[in-house]
Amino acid sequence: MKSLKKRDNSIPRKFYELDLDDRLDYLKKETNLTAKDTKLLKDLPKNFSFNKIDKMIENCIGIIPIPLGVATNFVINGKKYLIPISIEEPSVIAAASKAAKIASIGGGFTAEADDSIMIGQIQLISRDKNNRDRLKNKRERERVTKIIIDNKEELLKIANSRSISVIAKDIKVRELYDESINNMGYMIIIELIVDTRDAMGANVINTMCESIAPKIEKISNAKVVLKILSNYSIHRLARCRATFPKNLIGGKKGVDKILLAYAFAYSDVFRAVTHNKGLMNGIDALAIATGQDFRALEASIHAYAARDGKYRSLTKWYKSRKGDLIGEIELPMAIGIVGGIVSVHPIVRIVLKILDIKNVKELASIFAAIGLAQNFAAIRALADEGIQKGHMKLHARNIAITAGAKENQVDFIAERMLKENNVSVNKAKEVIQLIKTTRN
Ligand code: MEV
Repeated sequence: MKSLKKRDNSIPRKFYELDLDDRLDYLKKETNLTAKDTKLLKDLPKNFSFNKIDKMIENCIGIIPIPLGVATNFVINGKKYLIPISIEEPSVIAAASKAAKIASIGGGFTAEADDSIMIGQIQLISRDKNNRDRLKNKRERERVTKIIIDNKEELLKIANSRSISVIAKDIKVRELYDESINNMGYMIIIELIVDTRDAMGANVINTMCESIAPKIEKISNAKVVLKILSNYSIHRLARCRATFPKNLIGGKKGVDKILLAYAFAYSDVFRAVTHNKGLMNGIDALAIATGQDFRALEASIHAYAARDGKYRSLTKWYKSRKGDLIGEIELPMAIGIVGGIVSVHPIVRIVLKILDIKNVKELASIFAAIGLAQNFAAIRALADEGIQKGHMKLHARNIAITAGAKENQVDFIAERMLKENNVSVNKAKEVIQLIKTTRN
C-alpha cells in the first residue's frame, strides 16, 4: 500500500486515520472503483451511520447487506416459532419451512440444550537455563500439576473477580506431549471450566485466563504461553429430534430413499461434508441473523462431526416402529444472547424479539431444529426429484436481474427461461430485447 498523504500533503497517514471520503478516494485511486461504486458504499442506512460501523471493525468502508427472511411452521417443544434467518442462497428458507410443516404434523421438534459450559486453556511449559525441557521429568510434571490443583480455589477466585454473571467453576490439569515435527516436548495444559450462562463467553473466558496466568507462573515456577478459550465446545451440546410421517414423504419408498441418503453421508466423508454443509445453511443463516460468531460455530461443529476419528453426518435418520422417519441432530452450540454484537446491533435485537426466547438454551434448541429441518429438506429433495428444479425458479429470477431486467419484467423473463429450459444471461437478454421490440 502506498503511503497516504494528508490533504496538505505533509505527514503520511494510515488508512485507519482517514475519514470515509478519504478512504474511498484512496480506493478509487488504487483500484478501478468508479464514483458510482463509492457512492453506493457511502449510501448507508440511517441505523448504520459510518460513525457506528467504524467502531465495529477496523478500516471500515461500508456494509454488505444480506437478505433476512423468516422460516415458518416451526413448532419446537410445543411452542410456535417464526425464525428469521439471513442468507444469500435461494431455496433455503422455503425448504426449512416446508420441512418444519411436515415435522409439525409429526408432533413438532423436541429439542434441548446443555448448560453453557466452556473451556479456557492455559499452556504451561518449563525449561531450565539451557532450554532443556524440565517437564520431561515425570516428577516435575506431577509437582506442577499438584501445585495448580492445590491452588485451585485461589485461582478460581481471581478468575471470578473478572465477571459477575459468568462463573469459573473448576480447574483441570492435564499433560500434553508435542506431536508436531518440532519436538517441543511436554506441556501442562490447565483448563478453566466456565459457565457462560446466556453469553457466548469468548471475551470473558479469555480475560479470566489472562487474569490467572501471573499467579500460575508464580506458584509453578513455569512459563505460561497461550491463554485462550477453546472453541471445541463439546460440553455445550444442543439436540433435536423430529418425526416425519411416512404418508407425507412418499410412504415406505420415500423413507427408504432418505435412509439411503443418510447411509451415504454416514459412511463417506465426501458426501458427509456436503450433507453437513446443507444443515449449516440453516445454522449459519440463523447465526448471522442473531449476531453469533459463526466461525466459532463452524469450527466446533465440524470438529464434532469427526469426533470418532472419521468425519460423519451430524444428523441420524432411522425408522419408527410404525415406519415413519425419525431424524436426530446433536451439535455443539456456543452462542450468546447477551454481550458483543448481540446487544448493540439494531437488527439482531429485532430478530431476537421475533424469536421471543427466554434464554440461550431456547435459542440453542432453535438452532438444532433448523439444522435438522434443513437437512431433511435437502436429503428428501436429493433422494427424490433432485434440488435443481426448485433452485432454478429462484436462480432464473437472479439471472434475469443480472441480465438487466426491470423489476416488473423479472417474473415474466424467469418463467420464459424455465419454460424453454434455458436459464442463462444470454437467453434473459434475448427476452428483454423481445419485450422492447414488442413494445415499440
Ligand atoms: C446446498 O446448499 C446444500 C445441499 O448440497 C446439501 C446436501 O447435499 O445435502 C443440497
